Amino acid sequence: MLSPHLLHIMPLIGHGKPPNSFPSITKTQNRVTKSVLNQDFSTNQSAAASAPPIASMAKVIHLPAITTNGAEVIEVVERAVARAVEGAAVDKSTKVPVKCVITVKRIIRSDNESNADHEDPNNHEMVAGRLHLTLYSTELDCSGMEKTVEASTERGTRRGEAVEFECSFNMPKTFGQVGAVTMQNQQEDETLLVSTIALDGLPSPTTTTSLTFNCNSHISPMSQNHDLRIFFSNKSYLPAQTPDGLKRLRNLDLENLRGDGTGERKESDRIYDYDVYNDLADPDSNPDLARPVLGGSKHPYPRRCRTGRGPTKADKNTEKKSGALAKYYVPRDEQFSATKSREFRLNVLDQAVHALIPIFVSITNPKMGFPFFTAIDSLFNEGLIIPSNGLLNKYLPRVVKATSFGKEKLRYETPELITRDRFSWLTDKEFARQTLAGLNPYTIQLVKEWPLTSKLDPKLYGPPESAITKELVEKEIGGVMTVEEVVEKKRLFMLDYHDLLLPQVIGVRNLGDTYLYGSRTLFFLRDNGTLQPIAIELTRPPSYDEKLAIEPWQGVYTPSTEPTKEWLWRFAKLNVIVHDSAYHQLIAHWLRTHCVAEPFIIAANRQLSAMHPIYRLLHPYFGYTMEINAYARKQLVNAGGIIESCFSAGKYAMVFSSIVYDQVWRFDMEALPADLIRRGLAEEDPNAEHGLKLAIQDYPFANDGLILWDAIKEWVSDYVDHYYPKAFTIEEDKELQAWWNEVRTVGHGDKKDEKWWPVLNTQENLIQTLSTIIWVNSGHHAAVNFGQYDYAGYFPNRPSIARTKMPDEDPTDDEYTEFLTKPESAMLQCLPSQRQASIVMTILDVLSTHSADEEYIADKMEASWEDSPVIKGRSSGSKGG
Ligand SMILES: [Fe+2]
Repeated sequence: MLSPHLLHIMPLIGHGKPPNSFPSITKTQNRVTKSVLNQDFSTNQSAAASAPPIASMAKVIHLPAITTNGAEVIEVVERAVARAVEGAAVDKSTKVPVKCVITVKRIIRSDNESNADHEDPNNHEMVAGRLHLTLYSTELDCSGMEKTVEASTERGTRRGEAVEFECSFNMPKTFGQVGAVTMQNQQEDETLLVSTIALDGLPSPTTTTSLTFNCNSHISPMSQNHDLRIFFSNKSYLPAQTPDGLKRLRNLDLENLRGDGTGERKESDRIYDYDVYNDLADPDSNPDLARPVLGGSKHPYPRRCRTGRGPTKADKNTEKKSGALAKYYVPRDEQFSATKSREFRLNVLDQAVHALIPIFVSITNPKMGFPFFTAIDSLFNEGLIIPSNGLLNKYLPRVVKATSFGKEKLRYETPELITRDRFSWLTDKEFARQTLAGLNPYTIQLVKEWPLTSKLDPKLYGPPESAITKELVEKEIGGVMTVEEVVEKKRLFMLDYHDLLLPQVIGVRNLGDTYLYGSRTLFFLRDNGTLQPIAIELTRPPSYDEKLAIEPWQGVYTPSTEPTKEWLWRFAKLNVIVHDSAYHQLIAHWLRTHCVAEPFIIAANRQLSAMHPIYRLLHPYFGYTMEINAYARKQLVNAGGIIESCFSAGKYAMVFSSIVYDQVWRFDMEALPADLIRRGLAEEDPNAEHGLKLAIQDYPFANDGLILWDAIKEWVSDYVDHYYPKAFTIEEDKELQAWWNEVRTVGHGDKKDEKWWPVLNTQENLIQTLSTIIWVNSGHHAAVNFGQYDYAGYFPNRPSIARTKMPDEDPTDDEYTEFLTKPESAMLQCLPSQRQASIVMTILDVLSTHSADEEYIADKMEASWEDSPVIKGRSSGSKGG
């Protein structure tokens, strides 16, 4: 049997210099190939006029099926040669010149330098650039062969940021519609970001004389990547509808994207594959940075993109780090777009972290808190003079201001929350409001049962009964009704971090300098529709550990005007917000959007052709997720990284994330309506707006989110109904089924046996599945991402860590006296240190910033949608398009 690689090289053989690493072919095959190679195959426009037609015909030979012996190869080639000879007799008037312009947004040097110097729009200099292109007809010829024409560029013209390369094809009038282009980048060391390939002068009877391929894809030099780069036209096809002329290319492209699962990935690769989270630890540099592998039966977790780096010396199950400044691999097209690289958010973040953290380390004691609240204010007013390296202002112009003496000043923008009302963060009203409209609107839930009871093992975690009593609740709501009535009338709500956090408490406390509790916070829904916090319960489980042997402890706190109780209430709220901050970053943000999305993206690229309509529907929502995730593994959620060093869960942060994935995460509950119903914040009501009756009418996250959800679902419904008019076409779509199967059994393989996974067998199921993925990657993520600096930029409003325990938890006499006399000072000691606060504020400032090339829903029509009149009409008429 021939090597499958021969299928790759057959379209290339006309160039006379196949890449060095192509596999050797057998003696018989070699003879056949040489007979073809002896022809003059240069078909760029300058040579095409003198080249015999046999040349271009011979170059397009490919094997329609895997052949079994050399004789068959000979037969195939002989048939092609016969057709070529026949073609030579055809009058030249049967062909027309087709002009081709390839627009490359930017050429990226291998040293990653920007071409900013060449971005003058009046700069039209000529640049060298050899690209070889082959156009493929959607039809096969009468012998069942692919119909192709080829041409090459020699140089291009720079037009500001873009470069345009031109060539011309000598195309038979009977060529039919162009369905694909393959391109070889024959530059020595330049990767190109191909924006469009525009054809003009196409012969009749094609429907149009011009055609544009919207590529927006990188193509590496052949010296770095031998895979044939294939670009399909904007027309979408289900697998069964693939034109005969494109079938081989459709499969070949997917094979290339899947790779063979071996080797270390290079920057130029496009391969999408899976691996467990085994690259967070760094045991070679420090045994304390060893961490468990996430993914597998012990610590279930979604899969991440495989990079193929080797194992560490200390632990063969842990993947070693790349260099400090080296990026982790993501497929080439998942990297940030290459325009003005110095403005990339992720590059900024990377540079900022590398530059700023050593400065913070040099100027602050790791445990030093802020001495006064006014010292916190000064971060926004006067700022902090820092040792200058002259670069920070360039990376972080919003945060770091250059000074006149070559020094730089770290001065943060005042978050809007503080601009509006400097003291609002202290109020119960704002505390409650932020559970509905703040940075994490995803935890508040209806209390459905009374009394509150833990489901944890009492032998390990203490008494299951909550310390919040019926009497306490009734007193706090002024005795207007019994607690049973409050529950029945759906007016009692809760932030419940009891059962999830309690098992982590002892481990976290053993780390030192960070304290944790299990917590419950109750809210009463008042007649005016707002929430009123009425009680907080903080719980410490028992520990029989030699290092920390303690009895169980519970504290219950309520609002008060009595000074000591009022301060304790403030401390209790601070602790709950710390719990909410950890849950927000690790679960609502990282796990439920970034992390769970990666398998959907990997599987889509491995199983859905770029010409598949569902790939094209989802693709806009996948942008940059994989690269941001790779960065997060390197700097944010890694051992000793920013999350571990600045948030309360410390080194248990990611294990906690795995526990929540295992116990709580369900795909079918990630749709906004399902999530609201699960938390008791809504119930189905066909007569209500959006089909849901909200438990709290003024719930901005739900009020706005449901409008967006409905728009997404309406658009997806139109789209799915157009491509799948009958349910059986969904079941028969091999690529779609392979994608979903791989999502469930590989990417989310630790949950593959769950019964709640939707089955893609009806339009309804497919619409719900796709809408959920789109929602998670758009509305859900935006809600928990873009408000980060607004709410947490002033960190007392949203501290990431509690560094001291509650003042009344087993205090010494001196400790309690200190609290009574200087409660404000005690709170500053509890809040994040200067170093922790500065690092988190800087990171959140960058992460909250909208990047220049961000796309907004309904803002941009995908090229493939525009080419379909039906879809174009529906998308432009849909709020969610
Ligand atoms: Fe994010």
